[in-house]
Amino acid sequence: MTRVSVMSSRIEEAAGVLRAGGLVAFPTETVYGLGANAEDAAAVARIFQAKGRPASHPLIVHLADAARLGDWVADVPTTARRLAESFWPGPLTLVLRRGRRVALEATGGLDTVAVRVPAHPVALELLSVFGGGVAAPSANRFGSVSPTTAEDVRAELGDAVDVVLDGGRCDVGVESTIVDATGDAPSILRPGGVTREDLDRVLGRPVAVHATSRIRVPGQHPSHYAPRARVVLVDAEDVVAEAELAQERGRRVGVLLPPQLAGTQVKTQVQVAVPGSMAAYARGLYGFLREFDQHGCDLIVASLPREEGLGLAIANRLRRAAGPRSTE
Ligand code: TXA
Ligand code: MG
Repeated sequence: MTRVSVMSSRIEEAAGVLRAGGLVAFPTETVYGLGANAEDAAAVARIFQAKGRPASHPLIVHLADAARLGDWVADVPTTARRLAESFWPGPLTLVLRRGRRVALEATGGLDTVAVRVPAHPVALELLSVFGGGVAAPSANRFGSVSPTTAEDVRAELGDAVDVVLDGGRCDVGVESTIVDATGDAPSILRPGGVTREDLDRVLGRPVAVHATSRIRVPGQHPSHYAPRARVVLVDAEDVVAEAELAQERGRRVGVLLPPQLAGTQVKTQVQVAVPGSMAAYARGLYGFLREFDQHGCDLIVASLPREEGLGLAIANRLRRAAGPRSTE
């Protein structure tokens, strides 16, 4: 098919850019990543520059499959192996002891490395044509909302990226679940596309969320994943009153209307009805936040979903978006 061969030549070109030390934005099933050769310290440094991100923040190394995991990590505990077998390719990132192949710059100098095999066909083709590991954070400016379309990437990074591969809208919509898998009792460092319930099922016991991990997690500022507008979280039954009051007081308000209030007309700048399914909510979340910014909203009023399934990741991102703005 023509489309496939056009895409293949774009992928060859992108792999060449990676080999030459350039930056490639590529789609994954979660969000778009901003990739560089994970073995090339100078290329990795360009990622931090393009994002405006402090160099101490470790990146995720993306691989085509788990077969060569041993090149990138020092050791793969049995539990980590089981998680990789169950969820890769997919939205799970494993933090393991760092292997020698990965540039120290990609791990922010830590003795651990985050690795994942993404499930998007374009990402997998890029990774297998390139052949090595691709260090990639989300393809947004530091602290802002992750991109879920190629247009979002261009709006965030413009000319700072050499190639943008367009793979359509990301299916999951929130980032991968990060699991500290260095020991026998894995714990969730960041909730994401693989649910806690799915992890519990595979591990046969409840996994701790943000448990007392031996790993420090730089890059987990409360203000991460934030739109320009300030985000205020209230109980679902107060969303309409809170939003209308702020609008009356002269704010330009965007409201995320909980599913139980669907159909309510709210007197605010913009209103978005939150989908009833958590998968659809996760898929749309960052797009909704961007939409509010595009409408010039200065305040977003929202409530938290139930923190089960993908609701855990959605609530985590909303809380962070509502957190203090340490990057301002
Ligand atoms: O879904 C995703 O994970 C996307 C796509 C592109 O794969 N990537 C992503 O990368 O969200 P980024 O850089 O935006 O977030 C990576 C997170 C950071 O919060 C960082 O602190 C954590 O991973 N991380 C990376 N290496 C780590 C390590 N060795 N120990 C603990 N946390 C680590
Ligand atoms: Mg990010």
